[in-house]
This record gives sequence, structure tokens and C-alpha cells, in this order.
Amino acid sequence: MQDAKEEIKARLPVEDVVGQYIELKRAGRTLKGRSPWGVDKTPSFMVSPDKGIWHDFSANKGGDIFTFVMEVEGISFREAMEKLAQQAGVELKQYSGDDQKVAKHKTRMKEALELATKYYQFCLSKNKAVCEYVFYKRNMNKKTVLDFRIGYAPKGKDNLIKFLKSKGFTLTELKDAGLVNQYNGDLFKGRMMIPFFDNSENIIGYTGRIVGEGEPKYLNTPETLLFNKSRFIFGLAQAKEHIRRSGYVVIVEGNMDVISSHQAGVPEAVATSGTAMTEQHLKILNRLTDDIRLAYDGDEAGVKAAERAINLANNLGINLKIISGYDGAKDPDELIQKSPEAWQKCVERCEPAIDWLLNKYEERVDIYSGPGKKEYSDIAMKLIESIPDAVERKHYMNMVAEKLEVSVSDLEEKKVEQKEKKPHLKTIKTEKKKITSDEAKKLRDSLEAILVYGGAAGGEIRLEFPEDETRISELELIFEKEFSKYDEEQLKREARFLMDRYNEEIIQSEIDDLTKELEAAEEDDEKTAKILRKIQALRSKLN
Ligand code: UTP
Ligand code: MN
Repeated sequence: MQDAKEEIKARLPVEDVVGQYIELKRAGRTLKGRSPWGVDKTPSFMVSPDKGIWHDFSANKGGDIFTFVMEVEGISFREAMEKLAQQAGVELKQYSGDDQKVAKHKTRMKEALELATKYYQFCLSKNKAVCEYVFYKRNMNKKTVLDFRIGYAPKGKDNLIKFLKSKGFTLTELKDAGLVNQYNGDLFKGRMMIPFFDNSENIIGYTGRIVGEGEPKYLNTPETLLFNKSRFIFGLAQAKEHIRRSGYVVIVEGNMDVISSHQAGVPEAVATSGTAMTEQHLKILNRLTDDIRLAYDGDEAGVKAAERAINLANNLGINLKIISGYDGAKDPDELIQKSPEAWQKCVERCEPAIDWLLNKYEERVDIYSGPGKKEYSDIAMKLIESIPDAVERKHYMNMVAEKLEVSVSDLEEKKVEQKEKKPHLKTIKTEKKKITSDEAKKLRDSLEAILVYGGAAGGEIRLEFPEDETRISELELIFEKEFSKYDEEQLKREARFLMDRYNEEIIQSEIDDLTKELEAAEEDDEKTAKILRKIQALRSKLN
């Protein structure tokens, strides 16, 4: 495993791997670019070809080609290995016993699904009535059908299983691939088949739409070793490059909305197929872009789902944008069937989630009545308080004040009252905690960089010395960027300062953890007293 890793590293220059995702410019011995996590205004992403590593100073992370691909694609180490091994032309034979078995089994499943897809594609080409449905009723063109590898699963008990068995696959392999129903027959029957692709264009499952009427309308592959619902994003394989280029992603509700959108010139569309959006989904997309636009259906369920997604995104510090107003159509697909240009305009005309929410609230209450004003300002202010930026907050305060025909100070007064009642808003607390640990990591990075590369400047400060080569090179990069202009005296001072701050951060985060325990301890007096003593001891260290 370690050998394979080294071999892959030797064959794939870090700048080539990173360069597939980010535009890099040479700056002396390093290369610079913009963070793929999109938080920087100036290039703060660095690559060192000599050392084979990267570091992102704005997002505060770094590592080698494997960690880069893991982070940027949102995949596991194993998946990153497989992906890069493929690029490097290295065969991954070095797996240990069990892993090797699993890897082999997965490969067999992928092979079965690949062949199944070809079979479904063939069946589509031979079935006039279904072609009629695909090309005329659903309005897909040939390119779309080929790009998305659309097919047809024929009716009949076990056509596919018979075919795949004749090609040497066992029933177990087909079951594990999610192709078999409880009666050991074909799971998908009489359905238009829409394959799910992973990052390397392998097929990992399907959603099958009934042709005509029937229940369920869509049938999906169950969870398998290959297909993980809560991480999978439909259309991402096809959309990824477009998202990176255009700098935004459009999330729609249905798989058919994705396909139509691609065909209608908005290839940045993806869907969290059939399940509610999860944090995982958002994190994966947020690695590609900061501009995430939600285009859910206009019905009540769609609005609810959007509100839920906005909340989820808020907790992750992501600002969503909302696409709405489909001109009477119920979903993007329907709008596109009327006019692809109208859909393109819709996507451009997106608005920040907060504006959209404030308008939605306005539709629900009568803001011309007294109680309506109270209700509206209650929910609006709760929303506004969760905005971290002061200027942005002010903007929305002004907006709400204007709507309700009150002054901003009236709203502020209200805010104070609310605060006194509820001192701890949950979202604010978690956010603070997150910054703390990020801050600690950053401090530790800088500190270690000085200790390792700053000569004697570390003085009496003791930290465990990093053993990992990648980490050591990364520290060199940090040192060069942040401290190369410091003289020895300045370095010493900086190291002392960083150490103090670092200790403070650690103590503070311990206090935070204990505070949580305290809440959990509730009525247990003994436990509460014990925790309080610990907190006091820690606090005294801080002063
Ligand atoms: P919709 O019912 O809105 O489907 O479900 P749609 O996209 O408009 O489909 P068409 O145009 O009638 O063909 C949206 C999504 O919910 C999931 C699917 O992922 C679908 O794309 N879904 C829906 C299911 O998983 N199962 C179902 O039975 C229905
Ligand atoms: Mn539809």
C-alpha cells in the first residue's frame, strides 16, 4: 500500500493533479492559485512541485496529492488512491487480504453494472414505443441520451439476470450490485433507466422511471457498497467541469430536471436524487463553489424542502441562493419544455436565500395588522440575527423596517428583548466553537513552522516534533510564506505569542466541551459540582 502510494506520487506531479482543478501560476519555486474552497480574494493557494505538496492559506489546510483529491472531490482515501492510480497507470495490487477481497468484489459489481447499462441501452434502441417516450414525450435529444447513457429495462421476470449470468456473473454479485428483487428476479422492469455515475464515470446504480403510469414512479438502486444515498449527487459527474468553469451550481429536485437542464444549456445542474439534502451533499458541492443555487419545485413541498436546505446550509456557514418563479410551470423540466431560454434567465435571476425567505414570510402573514407585524418581525429578526456580517445584517434590518413601517431602532429594541429571554442561540454557539478549533489549528501550523524551520527561535517551547514528511514540507511552505522576512528576535517573540494564544485556544475549547457536559449533567448535583470545579481551574489559567 505504502509502495503503491509512493509510486503514484512519483508518477503524478502535484502541480498536474492540482492543475486539473485550479489555474496555477508560477511564482518562483512555488505555484500559486485561488482556493478551490473559494474563500480567498487573492491567490492564497500554493503548490510546491519540489516537495510534492500543497497548502491553502485561506481554508487552512494542506497535504499531498491524495489529501487534495480527497478534499476537493469529497471522497475517501481509498477512492482517491483508486482514482490517482488509474491516472498514473499504477495497478493497486498491494492491498492487504480483506481489502483486496472487497476491492475485487467492488470491481466485479462495477463490471456487472457497466454491462447492465449496455444491455439497457441496447433494449432501448430496439423498443420503438419506449424510444417514442424518451425522444418525443421526454424530449431528450440523441446527445443527451448518449451522454447520460439512458436505457430501458424490459418487462419480464429476469431478462437482465439471465443475460448477466450467461456472462459469468454470480447471483450474489448481482444482488450486491442492487440489480435483483426479493424473488431473485430483475429489480427494474418496464422502466426508463437513468444510470448513476461516480467520479470516475463508473456506473454505481440507477433510478428507473416507469414508462407511462404506475407505482412507484421512480425506483432507485438500494444502498450498496458502491452507492451511498446520502453522499451521492445526481449529475455531478457530468456537471463538475461546468460548475468549476461557471463558478456556480444549480440544485434541482428531480433527476429529469437535471437532464433537461443540461440539454437546455444549463449544464451546472445536479440533484440529490430522491432524498432530502444532507450536510454531506452541501459540503461536497461547497468544495467546488461558494455559489450554490437552489431550484426546487414551486409547490408547498418544494418550499418546505428549500427552507430546510437553507437551515442546513446556515449551520455550515454557506449562503444559498434561490431560483424561483417558473412562470406557471411546476418544475424546471416543465419550464424547459416551454422555453429553455426562460430557464436560463431564471437561473441568472436568482436571489439570496434571505431575501427569498423574507418574501415568503410576507406572503404568509398580514403585515398590515399589528399582530401580523409582530409575527413577521419575530421570524425576520431571528433570521437576521444569524447573519454573521454586520453590514449585511444592517441591510436586512433596513429592509424589514421599511416593510413594517417602523424604525430600525424599534427593531433593535425588539432584538434586545429577545436576547434577554434567550441568551444562547444554538447556531451562534456552534459557529463560535468551529472558529475556535480552526483558529487553534492555524496557530499550531504557524508555531510548528517556526519551531521546525525557525532555527533556535523556538527556544524553550516544546511541541511534539512532526514525523510525517508531508507535514514537514508543508510547514516549510508555511514558514516561507509567513515568516521568511522575520529576523531571529522577531521569530522568538512571534513564537512566544503564538504559544500563548495556542494554549488559550486549547483551554477555551476544553471549557466549551465542559460547558456542554454541564448542560448534559442537568440535575446531577455531584457531577455538576465536579465539572464546575474543572471549569474554574481552567479559567484561572486563562487570567
Ligand atoms: P417528482 O415527482 O417531482 O418527479 O420527484 P419529476 O422529476 O417531476 O419526474 P417526472 O417529470 O414526472 O418524470 C422528484 C424526485 O423525487 C424522487 C426522484 O429522484 C425524482 O427525480 N422520487 C420521486 C422517487 O425517488 N420516487 C418516486 O416515486 C418519486
Ligand atoms: Mn417533472
